[in-house]
Amino acid sequence: MGADSARNTDGAPDPANGPEPTAAPPDAHPNPNPNSDTAADPDLDLDPEELERRAREVLDPRAYDYYAAGSGREVSAGEAAAAWRTFRLLPRVLHDVSSLDTALELAGARLSSPVLVAPSALHAMAHRDGETATAAGARAAGTAMVLSSRASREIEQVAAAAGPWWFQVYALRDRDATYRQVERAAAAGASALVLTVDVPYVAAKPRLRAPLPLQQDEATARRHAPGFRDPSFEQDPALAPRDIGLLAERFGLPVFAKGVLRADDARRCVDAGAAGVIVSNHGGRQLDRAVATAHALRPVADAVGGQVPVLVDGGIRDGVDVLTALALGARAVLIGRPVLWALTVGGAPGVAALLERYRRQLAEAMALCGAARLSELTRDLVA
Ligand code: FNR
Repeated sequence: MGADSARNTDGAPDPANGPEPTAAPPDAHPNPNPNSDTAADPDLDLDPEELERRAREVLDPRAYDYYAAGSGREVSAGEAAAAWRTFRLLPRVLHDVSSLDTALELAGARLSSPVLVAPSALHAMAHRDGETATAAGARAAGTAMVLSSRASREIEQVAAAAGPWWFQVYALRDRDATYRQVERAAAAGASALVLTVDVPYVAAKPRLRAPLPLQQDEATARRHAPGFRDPSFEQDPALAPRDIGLLAERFGLPVFAKGVLRADDARRCVDAGAAGVIVSNHGGRQLDRAVATAHALRPVADAVGGQVPVLVDGGIRDGVDVLTALALGARAVLIGRPVLWALTVGGAPGVAALLERYRRQLAEAMALCGAARLSELTRDLVA
């Protein structure tokens, strides 16, 4: 770790003193006031829309735009959340939900809930501790973080603050540079790799204003800021299914293919050795007008869900969205922008509180659907 990165750990939570990433105990009841139909949402200020509003007030407008932006006319980015809300549920009654369990095992780790942190770049614009704070928040909530390969903190630094974490990989034209980065992540304890497959080229985002206001002159962040021009650090547009198998073999880690929207592509990834598939349209930041993930999920789950875990991200904003995704066949979900807003507004504790809110809301929705554990979230719950 260089002097530069050491300086930037100022104020970072000390992982040695942090809470253990234990799975939360089963909920007796998710709602603190379960017997009153006047029970208010105990943490309404953690609603992602409210968090975004508050984050926007404090962020440099260029940073806000970078986080919020979609590609093109922002059609896909704009409709992602609404797509989840088009589903209707068929709740079961007269099932014993006196004890609720949201925990699961994924990539060898026991997690408190199926709500993970999606990989997103450049967290240092949101908080001075960057991804280190995000990782500490995910750890405190007992869940996993996927660390972006475009992070603004060094891999080892983030790993030291993290609970279970996975490393997101862009296959660069310079494959040696790619492998060197993955080597570091594997040595630092990543328990899985997430190979992003939907970025042969980075799509234009009209809202994006370079240069970004990176708060410290960190080599890592500068290297990855828009405007950095070194062709060897560009994503390889010739990426192919066999690269999944090569990565898995070389590092001995499970590889999830992220950015799949079609059943036939999901099949190709699994046949090539993927340990899982992540249904994603990159938060509407790649092909504008790519289908909403809420609608892409079911065919992908039907094609490969019996064989490998299928995860999904994009517009997941509350526990009912999570429940819907799981009922449609996802094993877990990932959260992108809301984590960035929580990080901006509340640092590591803010991230932990947001993730815990998703978990509590999921537990409540499970109870109201007659499902005591995640395996009971089956397709028949969707009308
Ligand atoms: C992303 N995303 C992303 N994905 C990835 O594989 N590698 C990356 O470095 C990034 N970087 C990134 C930056 C920002 C600012 C955003 C908003 C997103 C995509 C991300 O992992 C995820 O697919 C979406 O963010 C999920 O959608 P929501 O939850 O933001 O709606």
